[in-house]
Amino acid sequence: MKTETTISGVRAALRAARKAGKSIAMVPTMGNLHAGHITLVKTAKRRADIVVTSIFVNPTQFGINEDFDKYPRTLSADSALLAEASCDILFAPDMREMYPDGRQQNTSVNVSGITDMLCGTSRPGHFSGVATVVSKLFNIVQPDMALFGEKDYQQLAVIRRFSRDLCFPVEVIGVATVRAEDGLALSSRNGFLSSEERKLAPQLFKTLSSLRTAIEGGQRDYAMLAAAANTHLAKCGFVPEYLEVRRQDLELAGHGDKALVILVAARLGSTRLIDNLAFELP
Ligand code: PAF
Repeated sequence: MKTETTISGVRAALRAARKAGKSIAMVPTMGNLHAGHITLVKTAKRRADIVVTSIFVNPTQFGINEDFDKYPRTLSADSALLAEASCDILFAPDMREMYPDGRQQNTSVNVSGITDMLCGTSRPGHFSGVATVVSKLFNIVQPDMALFGEKDYQQLAVIRRFSRDLCFPVEVIGVATVRAEDGLALSSRNGFLSSEERKLAPQLFKTLSSLRTAIEGGQRDYAMLAAAANTHLAKCGFVPEYLEVRRQDLELAGHGDKALVILVAARLGSTRLIDNLAFELP
């Protein structure tokens, strides 16, 4: 596996492959890789000739009181995992390479509509930071396809939307969430949980699963179901931020809708966790 830290370096490394007509898949990450990321890399490897994984902890998607400074940076362990997963190129730029004029660059990518809800409400500016950095990464690497985890459901919807609106020639592929045996969605932020909090954390997915069972059993008062689920999470020790039943396109769900997703964000101590469960009614 080659490691490149500059835009010109990664472009040069891909030139021969591109000339030879090889397909290129990209896996954008912020590092501190876990089995979920490695599944993305392995899926990419099955679908394309060359896999580029980027590691860049993007400051523009963190709010001022968020965990940018303490976000885990584990480049050498990540690099070993990627090599083992047969990743071809690791692109690990620094801040100056990605934002030569500082984080307040004049141009940003803003997606309206689907960012005005859920995580977009509680993390103002977050999705603009994500859309801007992913656009930059797409322009740097120019992949044929890019893979993202479905755990970040709204992020994936935002990336699909701007890629289509701005005509990026990139196929955006969502890959199923990888979970621990007890159901907790794998996330780099799980490492912030104390051992007590880690024991409680699977309640998040259990709550989503119970809600799904209730809806499949015929209950349709989504506001009431969400309020009861919030109360349950609060009793378990979470501070819920939102829990909503929506259509899979993130519009508000009505009684007749069949393709649904339940989305949740909640804090456990100082750690913010998100999860979701998408399903179809018959
Ligand atoms: O999901 C992430 O790790 C990040 O939001 C992404 C897509 C790599 C952009 O920084």
